[in-house]
Amino acid sequence: MIISSQKELYKLQAIGEIVANCLKTMTQSAQIGMSTQELDAIGAHYLQEHGAESAPIKDYQFPGTTCISVNQCAAHGIPSKEVILRDGDLVNIDVSAVKDGIYADTGATFGLGNTSSQLKDLMKATRQTLNRATERARAGEKLSIIGKTIEKGAGNKYTVIRNLCSHGVGKSLHEEPDQILPYFDPKDPRYLQENMVITIEPFLSTGTQFVDDGKDGWALLNKAGCFSAQYEHTMVIRKGKGPLVITQPTI
Ligand code: CO
Ligand code: CO
Repeated sequence: MIISSQKELYKLQAIGEIVANCLKTMTQSAQIGMSTQELDAIGAHYLQEHGAESAPIKDYQFPGTTCISVNQCAAHGIPSKEVILRDGDLVNIDVSAVKDGIYADTGATFGLGNTSSQLKDLMKATRQTLNRATERARAGEKLSIIGKTIEKGAGNKYTVIRNLCSHGVGKSLHEEPDQILPYFDPKDPRYLQENMVITIEPFLSTGTQFVDDGKDGWALLNKAGCFSAQYEHTMVIRKGKGPLVITQPTI
């Protein structure tokens, strides 16, 4: 959406803070031996306490409040009592929710217990890539600056997962500008506009270029033996300076 009033901005900031704090609460609660369903329940409780509704449930009838993706699973992992968190796991939690008709979306990857240095480096590179792409997203720039910066962040060391995109958000979870590609597309004619609300969410992988659907119809999987990391923020595009990131935790 394009923010049209102060009131709308306040609503966006309110839901942005809720999803960010929910994500932080979940990340801090994750423990070895816990199932991803138990972890999801902590998120569900947090959203409910703050008057917010899960966006994946509302918009897509997703079978979980949040998406929790472990190891080979890159995104859209269904919280399950059968997925037990283990030492060294790479875990991604994606929280999106709606309150007063306004949506926000955030995600992060973290290692549980003793994570390998290879995975730590992957996470660091992905976080830096999000920061760089965010810094360059300004009104008047081409939308493709985002993909260009993400591709650069992956460098020769990592691959960009090409079929997982950033997107407009606000009145629904995914809206215009949709399909903000994670690589440079010189033919994309679109521009970033002042007060436009978008997410940026690079997925860097140790070798996957395209994720495949898993057997459950939701989970998107890395190639066997590959891992990926994702960090995501919702932000408001501004003129002459970097965006206002509205999904920073305050707890
Ligand atoms: Co998300
Ligand atoms: Co998103």
